[in-house]
Amino acid sequence: MTSPRTGTVLVAGSANLDFVVRATHVPAPGETVLGRDFGTFPGGKGANQAAACAKAGGASTQMLVALGYDVHAQVLEASLIDAGVVMRTVRSNGPTGVAFVCLSDTAENAITVAPGANNALLPEHLPPLHNISHLLMQLESPLPSVLAWARAARGAGVVTVLNAAPAQALPDELIALIDVLIVNEHELAQLTGLHDIDAALDRLTNPCVVVTLGAQGSRARMHGEHLHQPAFAITPVDTTGAGDTFCGTLVAALCRGLPFAEALRHASAASALACTRLGAQAGIPTAREVNDLLASHPSP
Ligand code: RIB
Repeated sequence: MTSPRTGTVLVAGSANLDFVVRATHVPAPGETVLGRDFGTFPGGKGANQAAACAKAGGASTQMLVALGYDVHAQVLEASLIDAGVVMRTVRSNGPTGVAFVCLSDTAENAITVAPGANNALLPEHLPPLHNISHLLMQLESPLPSVLAWARAARGAGVVTVLNAAPAQALPDELIALIDVLIVNEHELAQLTGLHDIDAALDRLTNPCVVVTLGAQGSRARMHGEHLHQPAFAITPVDTTGAGDTFCGTLVAALCRGLPFAEALRHASAASALACTRLGAQAGIPTAREVNDLLASHPSP
């Protein structure tokens, strides 16, 4: 990993308006569940991560995103601008992305995404990178675009960060271009074919790999060193976007130069707080809330 230029994170990725229905449980295939309340919330993995990065403070945050001309786009833009994200918007004639989220009383969810305009993000839409220190990507954008952006970032000396979600097979070239790889347990197993976490972390050749483990916290390998960050105890209401809050907060902390273990602690605290509130972007805590939680749990 090259030493980063200070300061600006570019998030290149998706934005969806989340249509959320709360229900006792997530339906099994073929089952209809009578749900309760319904609401729409700004979401999408890229936009959630950009909002979390901006709200964490200390790192100026830009987002490359593709939106339609519809009313859904206005809601998403307002949420990102309100969080402090500088928008680099590509307009598409297609509909803005949407996601259908069933949220259970145990805070589990099942999500189906209709990408719409997100599929219009192309390699050539990446803006010049001369002021960018970190590029944060996910897999809700076309894979050829993600690969081209990673190549461009590596060539420009920008730290490349990939949240490899949702899980899918990836070309070896893309993985090799990533400095910081963030996955959950399922994505880690899919990438490596291994179910032992330490073995899987060691199998990947990226300088830094982080795996989020829900109530078990997170584990990481930074060069040769293994770390474990326990989860902050909370009663979850909605885990939608908690992983995204983790990613955005982690990159903001790395961007402002925090030591890696401390950055993990910030990301873990922010994602814990995000689980206590409804909505992906609506649930992202402020930097002050994260600092208060950290202060009440001094690190050993
Ligand atoms: O990671 C959570 C997000 O996944 C939701 O906001 C939804 O839009 C989907 O992209």
